[in-house]
Amino acid sequence: MLQITKFTLLLIVHFFLGTNSFYLPGLAPVNFCKKDDETDNCKSDVLLYVNRLNTEELVMPYEYSYFDFCEAKGDSKNPTENLGQVVFGERISTSPYKLTFMQNMTCNIVCTKTYRPGDSSSEYALKTLRKGISLNYQHHWIVDNMPVTNCRFDHYLKTMVCTTGFPMGCYIRNGRNLCPFEWDRTDAYFINNHVNLTITYHSGGGEDWGGQFQNNGGRIISVKVEPRSIDHNKLAKCNIGADPMEIPDKIPPQGLNITYTYSVYFIRDNHVKWSSRWDYILESMQNTNIQWFSILNSLVIVLFLSGMVAMILLRTLHKDIARYNQIDSGEDAQEEFGWKLVHGDVFRPPRKGMLLSVLLGSGVQVFFMTLVTLAFACLGFLSPANRGALMSCAMILYVLLGSPAGYTSARIYKSFGGEKWKSNVLLTSMLCSGIVFGLFFVMNLVLWSKGSSAAVPFSTLVGLLSMWLLVSVPLTFVGAFFGFRKRSLEHPVRTNQIPRLIPEQSVYTQPVPGIIMGGVLPFGCIFIQLFFIMNSIWSWQMYYMFGFLFLVFIILVITCAETTVLLCYFHLCAEDYHWWWRSYLTSGFTSAYLFLYCCHYFFSKLQIEDLASMFLYFGYTLIMVFLFNLLTGTIGFFACFWFIRKIYSVVKVD
Ligand SMILES: *[C@@H]1O[C@H](CO)[C@@H](O)[C@H](O)[C@H]1NC(C)=O
Ligand SMILES: *[C@@H]1O[C@H](CO)[C@@H](O)[C@H](O)[C@H]1NC(C)=O
Ligand SMILES: *[C@@H]1O[C@H](CO)[C@@H](O)[C@H](O)[C@H]1NC(C)=O
Repeated sequence: MLQITKFTLLLIVHFFLGTNSFYLPGLAPVNFCKKDDETDNCKSDVLLYVNRLNTEELVMPYEYSYFDFCEAKGDSKNPTENLGQVVFGERISTSPYKLTFMQNMTCNIVCTKTYRPGDSSSEYALKTLRKGISLNYQHHWIVDNMPVTNCRFDHYLKTMVCTTGFPMGCYIRNGRNLCPFEWDRTDAYFINNHVNLTITYHSGGGEDWGGQFQNNGGRIISVKVEPRSIDHNKLAKCNIGADPMEIPDKIPPQGLNITYTYSVYFIRDNHVKWSSRWDYILESMQNTNIQWFSILNSLVIVLFLSGMVAMILLRTLHKDIARYNQIDSGEDAQEEFGWKLVHGDVFRPPRKGMLLSVLLGSGVQVFFMTLVTLAFACLGFLSPANRGALMSCAMILYVLLGSPAGYTSARIYKSFGGEKWKSNVLLTSMLCSGIVFGLFFVMNLVLWSKGSSAAVPFSTLVGLLSMWLLVSVPLTFVGAFFGFRKRSLEHPVRTNQIPRLIPEQSVYTQPVPGIIMGGVLPFGCIFIQLFFIMNSIWSWQMYYMFGFLFLVFIILVITCAETTVLLCYFHLCAEDYHWWWRSYLTSGFTSAYLFLYCCHYFFSKLQIEDLASMFLYFGYTLIMVFLFNLLTGTIGFFACFWFIRKIYSVVKVD
């Protein structure tokens, strides 16, 4: 079945994109060759793009042009970005570094920046550079759709560790020396104005390209960079012994020149296949062993829970039902006890039914968005090589899934006997999306006031707004129309006129302890995976193990459902029939643990001290927690809903 689905999807993609292979745009191999051998089939210019710079110490990334580096000359056009990239702050632009395939270069000058004393723009530019260095901002360069990596030998792990960024400089301050060299002063900033690029390529022969380019062409396998700081004013060439380039606090009277240089070495390596060129980057980012451990941990929880549920469903419940039906046919109907007692109240509409139905509608939207996005990611469509695709996919799916949201919300609301269908549709389409968009907008204002590149351009904001108002809202209306037109959901038992009195509850069956306990197990299933996700968001590491993530998602769904059903059963046995909101909140409480985890991550892993960054961190966290609450709450609710309908439809009630 899975094979067929995968095959169909590939066919669809194949059909729409019309490519020769199953590669998506930007993912097909590019052939390079020497300048003299250029044909339609291969090119000699190896383009280097620069992305925004970021740091773990602040949440605000900055564009390359924010700092006073060398600029690209001429009319070179920046590559177009997709929605996901724009919304999540990637800013890719062309760079002044010119590379030609298989042409080594040593100490090539890019440009020289001159700073004069007394000139305010010079002083400002130097101050920005110093600030960037002191906050440990990292460059992110891209060649042939691959991140340029900086590999070092890690003495602690005893292996090579490759990161996708490299620092724009280093500093010595307060007894801390982040530089790879010693210096005689204790307060100094140095800029990495030289880069040594090593480009490895796979040259012809074998595989899928029929022996083209035996010696004069190939495909790029990896690009590694070693940044260095070199004072070119003292020594003309990039000699190993050259002094580093210091950025002084005050511009010296004779002025200051910073010269940017680069060296390029092309190295042939036919051992690595083009198709596995991402492996070395991804391998050094995530540990498969920990992933397996995480899955194992989750599976143990699921097995434990499933055991409990199975026991209850098969033994206790069976016994209950048999006994109830026996009593019924027998003489004494007064001996009823347990969950059957509340049959006249379980389907009594809850208070604030409108809000609940709206949250459930949006929850369904988030659930299907997550499910489909993860499924696509598993099939490899949204790999890290396809930048921004994951987020674009999620956003577009969210917008398109307005109809299920409207439909669900309408049906639930109608079954509560709600009359105000107009408010219901409006709220379903506006409330949750509005909260997310509002938070996003406020954070965008902060980013914008800080001049950060992550601030979404006005046109994109308008685009997002119109996607919401012109596509999502109408789709929600369509869904709601069909939802309201359907007959109201029939409940298996009738609701009595007069509500029953709920007996005094023990500590365990009171609402709040139950809800707090409810979130523990689902959270226990996901927290190891969460660590990787948080790293990919805040430490800018790549996340690619979507197979694991999909499994964890399924496990999360199962645990949420089972915990809620279990607690729901206990509560009904204690004759407490207020289950509507409680089932939503029980599994939804997982998001409260998520929030606590985010706080823990903030204090233990990140070194953010800046106020605006803190605001941004918690703003994004809030969005995440809110969406997660919708997701988990909805899962719990529907599991419980299904369970209750099932058990009350098998007991005989007169
Ligand atoms: C740059 O890399 C090349 C090749 O790996 C190496 O031979 C050279 O010493 C490096 N140069 C500098 C300045 O680091
Ligand atoms: C900086 O460069 C300019 C022009 O290249 C030169 O005239 C000037 O003397 C240089 N300044 C220093 C301090 O080296
Ligand atoms: C470029 O430099 C590398 C490393 O020094 C060397 O192995 C290679 O042969 C050089 N390539 C050319 C075309 O000179």
